[in-house]
Amino acid sequence: MRTDTPQSIYLKDYTPPAWLVDTVDLHVAIHDTHAEVRATLACRRNPAGPGGALVLDGEELALQELAIDGAALAPFCYALADDRLAIASANGAPLPERLTLATRVRIAPDANTQLSGLYRSKDGYFTQCEAQGFRRITFYPDRPDVMARFTCTIEAARERFPQLLSNGNLVATGDATDGRHWARWEDPYAKPCYLFALVAAKLDVLEDRFATRSGRTVRLAVYVEPGKLDQCGHAMAALKKSMAWDERRFGLEMDLDHYMIVAVGDFNMGAMENKGLNIFNTKYVLARPDTATDADFQGIDRVVAHEYFHNWTGNRVTCRDWFQLSLKEGLTVFRDQEFGADVHSRAVTRIQEVRALRVAQFPEDAGPMAHPIRPASYAEINNFYTATVYQKGAEVVRMIHTLIGEAAFRRGMDLYFARHDGQAVTCEDFVAAMQDASGVDLAQFRRWYARAGTPHLKAEGRYDAQARRYTLTLTQSLAPTAYEKRLQEAGLAIDDGPLHIPVALGLVLPDGSDALPEKTRVLPLTQQSQTFVFDGIPAAPVASLLRGFSAPVHLDFAQGDEELAHLMAWDSDPVNRWEAGQRLATRILLAGIAAGGEGTDWIPDTFVAAVARVLDDGLRHDAALAAEALILPAEQVLAEEMAGAGKAIDPEAIHRARIALRRHLAARLRDRFEAAWAALAPTEPYSPDGPQVGRRALRNLVLGYLAESDAEYLNASVMPRLTAQCSGAGNMTDVIAALGTLANLDAPERTAALDAFHSRWQGEALVVDKWLQVQATSRLPGTAARVRELMRHAAFDIRNPNKVYALVRAFCAANPRHFHAADGEGYRLAADVITELQAMNPQVAARIARSFDRWRQVDAARQAHARAALERIRDCAGLARDVAEVVGKALE
Ligand code: ARG
Ligand code: ZN
Repeated sequence: MRTDTPQSIYLKDYTPPAWLVDTVDLHVAIHDTHAEVRATLACRRNPAGPGGALVLDGEELALQELAIDGAALAPFCYALADDRLAIASANGAPLPERLTLATRVRIAPDANTQLSGLYRSKDGYFTQCEAQGFRRITFYPDRPDVMARFTCTIEAARERFPQLLSNGNLVATGDATDGRHWARWEDPYAKPCYLFALVAAKLDVLEDRFATRSGRTVRLAVYVEPGKLDQCGHAMAALKKSMAWDERRFGLEMDLDHYMIVAVGDFNMGAMENKGLNIFNTKYVLARPDTATDADFQGIDRVVAHEYFHNWTGNRVTCRDWFQLSLKEGLTVFRDQEFGADVHSRAVTRIQEVRALRVAQFPEDAGPMAHPIRPASYAEINNFYTATVYQKGAEVVRMIHTLIGEAAFRRGMDLYFARHDGQAVTCEDFVAAMQDASGVDLAQFRRWYARAGTPHLKAEGRYDAQARRYTLTLTQSLAPTAYEKRLQEAGLAIDDGPLHIPVALGLVLPDGSDALPEKTRVLPLTQQSQTFVFDGIPAAPVASLLRGFSAPVHLDFAQGDEELAHLMAWDSDPVNRWEAGQRLATRILLAGIAAGGEGTDWIPDTFVAAVARVLDDGLRHDAALAAEALILPAEQVLAEEMAGAGKAIDPEAIHRARIALRRHLAARLRDRFEAAWAALAPTEPYSPDGPQVGRRALRNLVLGYLAESDAEYLNASVMPRLTAQCSGAGNMTDVIAALGTLANLDAPERTAALDAFHSRWQGEALVVDKWLQVQATSRLPGTAARVRELMRHAAFDIRNPNKVYALVRAFCAANPRHFHAADGEGYRLAADVITELQAMNPQVAARIARSFDRWRQVDAARQAHARAALERIRDCAGLARDVAEVVGKALE
């Protein structure tokens, strides 16, 4: 079978660089038709390297000049091919041990639609160098273990580009001829080139300062497109909160005098941690109560914190090679998660993380792109900025934290920095610091870095009343994934021994109290199967396993409905109270799916009563937690349950069953929902934090349930509230909640609300993205056709990643039932976009292509449509490597 998966590179083939670079002096001149880049590199042979030529990476660079130690190089001294410049000699003489390499190249940032390297966005120029964008700016050994001190001079027309920014400190500025000016920046810290950044644009700036705990003052600046200063306050506040938090929790202080954030509207990912000059997708900077939702505000907190935290975990200590990506990403996500937990609600934050893991990472682990948090091979590194490397990577760090405890974890971090500050290191180095600081043997734990797939944890409990003894047997298993099979074919060994799994356990007594004196005990499961014995347990307990979701595993534990209901009501761990509700709902929904989603006799009254209790509880205690508990398991999660049970995923039945359960709850609990709606009415002016966020979430959730009512009640009582909230609510959280609900209803009010929203907000790009997204995720028939229509709408632009994500990715990834339409239209739509987009922006196209991950789990008729779509993409002339890897692996 033809697969055409592109060539892989292997971690085992790592060799140190043959040459090192001590300093880089860049001069970037921006002209109307091109940019010219002069680079002066102080190079030296690496004594620990393999020897050989001076090899530099370079992509789409037009070489103008090349000199060593001031002498132009004759063409016979070097070879320029396959995106590499290999210099073998200096005009006949062997290369000296130290040399100065000077290059001059021309690049075309206006034609750079990949948004990697230097590119244009609106009227400005911006860079994105991670992972391998720097080679699109100048010739360079583009690998993270080459660390150099950078200076950068930028020159451009003063009028059009008043701001000229790069990393570090501004050391000189001046005028040039023809109305041009220049600015020179110097970064005092050695860094890999992926952390280089440059901006030339006309921007407004919000300035502030932060006093570090050692008494230094850091100048803070948030740069945004002119006219948007009123949308930067939250990002600035988040930055200051992050700086204070990292000092408090980890003793880590900001190390530069300047810290800048620049927002840009065209950006492939969320944001980038370039040293002292973070570049952000506008989505994670701009926010005002009327334009951004509570979730957007929290997203800004988290991403600002994430990029700031990278200054230590990523920049001061970086990765030796890209296989180690999770070294910085997993750890930094763990840090931003902890920040979120500390500044918002720990329980709600954790629940959202678990949900995200199940929706995105578990399916990844079960599909053709499965990989461990540290892959042993890849074809295109940009395809590995994944839920696994980021989210599961954070789970792995969290498990270390759980196993060794907060105090030892902190000592481990201190030791990690003491040992490795200024270095490019590996995941082993991180684990070694944690092991040495804690005294806990983590040798076996390292398997988490090497194994793909989600382990299964089987639990069996037994209570002996006479002996007052509870016995728990835990068994782990992990089947090989597509990844392990590929490794085996490549002749590489797999260490498939048991994992070291921290299983946090509570034993909940009939009166709801915890039987264990410490409430929660962490059981270190290291064998394939292990039995744990608990004495002095006064009555038969209900076991609460994996409290706080202590390990990213599938739990297989036969607990009855009453036991789950007991945990829902009494578990002292809020995450497991939520989890018990999810398990119960999943069980019911699977029964409903087996019934084809028809009827309601699969819905037990006990569940309706449990939902009513959660709602009451939410009104009395924590509305945010109740809102989480009332969200039924996502369609994608139910799909994984089916696939895991060896059944073909039936997207229609899943959708029908889930809606049927929502309708049933709406009918049975209408009065309760109405009472909650009234009780949760806002009482204070809008603020994106505090308890009102939870109250809003619960009230909008309740409104969503009420909108599942019969037509008569819907039209008479709910519709007026939806339309009023769309037009009259002062904050985007309430507006978009109502609009999202309306978008599922086949009613004239829907069109009117969507039109009004569009005309009000057409000038605000991020709000237009919301307008696209609510339509792309609509349940209504004809959604695929509407998505195609919107792709031709002036509001859409295939070159802008945010637009593609809002419309196309939302449709493919967040609307499973329409994406997996039986007639294949969802797959065709995706293939049409991917084939068009891959020539312009391979990274974004490859991300859309990941929507096909689960194609082999649907029925044969759907599979035939999916295969046709995938083969059409595969056969596309000149297919980009990014997409070729994803599609090749899907077809393997
Ligand atoms: N390091 C960035 C972050 O985690 C992500 C940059 C990824 N860029 C890419 N082109 N793959 O914040
Ligand atoms: Zn990151």
